[in-house]
Amino acid sequence: MARAKSDSGAGTEATELSEAEIAVHWKEEEYFPPPASFAAQANLKDPKVMDRFALTKFPECYREFGEMLTWDQPWTTTFDGSNAPFYKWFVGGKLNASVNCLDRHLAQYRNKAAFIFVAENEEEPSVPITYQELWVRVNEMAALLRDEARLKTGDRVTIHLPMTPELPITMLACARLGIVHSVVFGGFSGESAGRRAADSGSRVLVTMDGYYRNGKFTDHKPGADAAVAIAKAEGQTVDTVLVWQRHPGKYLSQAKLVDGRDKVVNELLPKYRRKTVEPVSMPAEAPLFLMYTSGTTGRPKGCQHATGGYLAYVTATSKWIQDIHPTDVYWCMADIGWITGHSYIVYGPLALAATSVLYEGIPTFPDPGRPWRIAERLGVNIFHTSPTAIRQLRKLGPEEPTKYDLKFKTMTTVGEPIEPEAWRWYFTKVGKGKAAITDTWWQTETGGFLCTTKPGLDRMKPGSAGPPMPGIHPKILDENGHEVPVGSNKAGNIVIQSPWPGLMSTIWGDAERYKKTYFQKYNTKPASHDWRDWPYFAGDGALLAPDGYYRILGRIDDVINVAGHRLGTKELESACLTVPEIAEAAVVPVTDEVKGRVPEVYVSLKPGFTASPEIEKKVAHAIETEIGKIARPKVVRIVPDMPKTRSGKIMRRVLASISNTMDVGDVTTLSNPDVVEQIRVLVQGKAKVVTKTAPEDIKKFGQAE
Ligand code: WT7
Repeated sequence: MARAKSDSGAGTEATELSEAEIAVHWKEEEYFPPPASFAAQANLKDPKVMDRFALTKFPECYREFGEMLTWDQPWTTTFDGSNAPFYKWFVGGKLNASVNCLDRHLAQYRNKAAFIFVAENEEEPSVPITYQELWVRVNEMAALLRDEARLKTGDRVTIHLPMTPELPITMLACARLGIVHSVVFGGFSGESAGRRAADSGSRVLVTMDGYYRNGKFTDHKPGADAAVAIAKAEGQTVDTVLVWQRHPGKYLSQAKLVDGRDKVVNELLPKYRRKTVEPVSMPAEAPLFLMYTSGTTGRPKGCQHATGGYLAYVTATSKWIQDIHPTDVYWCMADIGWITGHSYIVYGPLALAATSVLYEGIPTFPDPGRPWRIAERLGVNIFHTSPTAIRQLRKLGPEEPTKYDLKFKTMTTVGEPIEPEAWRWYFTKVGKGKAAITDTWWQTETGGFLCTTKPGLDRMKPGSAGPPMPGIHPKILDENGHEVPVGSNKAGNIVIQSPWPGLMSTIWGDAERYKKTYFQKYNTKPASHDWRDWPYFAGDGALLAPDGYYRILGRIDDVINVAGHRLGTKELESACLTVPEIAEAAVVPVTDEVKGRVPEVYVSLKPGFTASPEIEKKVAHAIETEIGKIARPKVVRIVPDMPKTRSGKIMRRVLASISNTMDVGDVTTLSNPDVVEQIRVLVQGKAKVVTKTAPEDIKKFGQAE
């Protein structure tokens, strides 16, 4: 696909190169054509689809996505950009998300499995839940939310549940009533859930007694008590905690139920048997849910997604890119607690009447053959996972997939860049060379895929996300807003020129932050209300090859992508500062064979304290309590002082260079250059080692400071 040439030619001369343009030495990979058997049955076959979605066709091209949904009232205006960069899609239209995911399928697919639940314990038989059964359970739960928890349209509810059917049931019950759900990943700590409950103003928290992970029962309910306490400290009273039991009839948590506040959902449900709840017809722009994600400040942002635009976008991308047909068996191995699970386990697949696997546990339990056994047994033919899972399964069981009769027609990766080596293993060993692979680049904020190959149309190129989705128009800009020339092998900041229906509406309660974080950087006319003046700034470094394929290099802000999940360095640093001995903290990313990146923590102590392994342990523990196990640091290093600029800013870039054995560069302008060598010796020992093999995002890390 031909790309527009750089308009100004600026940035081509060395003198004009900005810091954002880092030279990238990237070997072009070979192409793999889409398998013919796949292409023949693909949902998206039109070779002219990019023309149909050309920028000149904006915004009416998106009618096609809206038309995939069932509306109570049709929309009158496809796109309202009059208050850019705050956009409304399908204005005037009304719909209900649960109706689109359930009711509309009953006539044809009543008896088809919506989910097949697979418990982590391999001895438990899998449990199919038909569309009819899911519809019944969602109705009963909706009645309970309304009558027992006194919830109504527009209220927010925080959901802190593991990967069991109760999670999508609770989400869809909220959607039925127009209640805004805010799901917090089950692996996050109770404290994290509490802070998000406070920010969203939730008076109800939905949780579970516990669940199974890596062969062990994990007691989850204590997190709810911590969450309520934190929310209260932040000024938000949570008056009702709804507790599901993992095994109905048995309460397995050590934490007591609090009288008057905690209610056991499955004990109350019999009261609501056979109750049906009239779905609330919601305006297209009404919020469907909030999903918190990390950014540059310590406070996570509640990305607010709209009912109509979001649902249309995830339905269209599930259809075209995941290639879901009602006859397929689909498995997205993500957690519903992240945006991937919301878009590509719950809303997109259910809107298409898919049959999906819902798996409780971790991919490597009890051994790295588990995912392939599940796939073989249930006849999964569409598979969706992360590079981290691929790297781990490849490391622990490189030949495992070859032992099973796997019949994938398409397979997705998401969340981080995938190394061509890992890609090739996925293609040959898992896909047996017959599956179309899509590497999908997107974000919590974007609702659905932004760049990916179209599996029946485009050639695959390992390591590259590929061309943009039809209707997405990216550009790579340098720090000054000039387009980085195609094929220059220079990276820049990836922006999207025009809005799309999946784009979040705003940050919950902080419209100013929304504008500032995602649009201010390349806006030159702050008073303008024309979307053309507000390119969406994704916060990723990327490179555009002459073939029109985008290669995503990673975050350019203070965010670390651990196993495909975003962690804000500031969040980790504030967790460190809850330890009384700690004066200052700096968190940097370090490359990791399996997880891509892991955080390494540097701390300095307040006067009067001396370094000890106990303090290091306390810091690691504080991070686990405040955020969750996912943020566990690789190592905590106590240093005499932090390298600082003359104005007192901590130079994380210098620390990241030391941790990744890169050259620290010129540090003479620091206020305390000597401390750099002291820290280097502490970390690396006396001998100087420089490997310089760190990826681009680490080379750039913290450079803005
Ligand atoms: C960040 C978004 C999108 C759902 C999961 C993560 C990175 C995402 C890719 C990919 C390279 C990727 C980006 C992005 N990322 N997909 N295919 N190739 N990098 O959602 O937590 O909002 O994180 O993940 O850096 O900005 P998220």
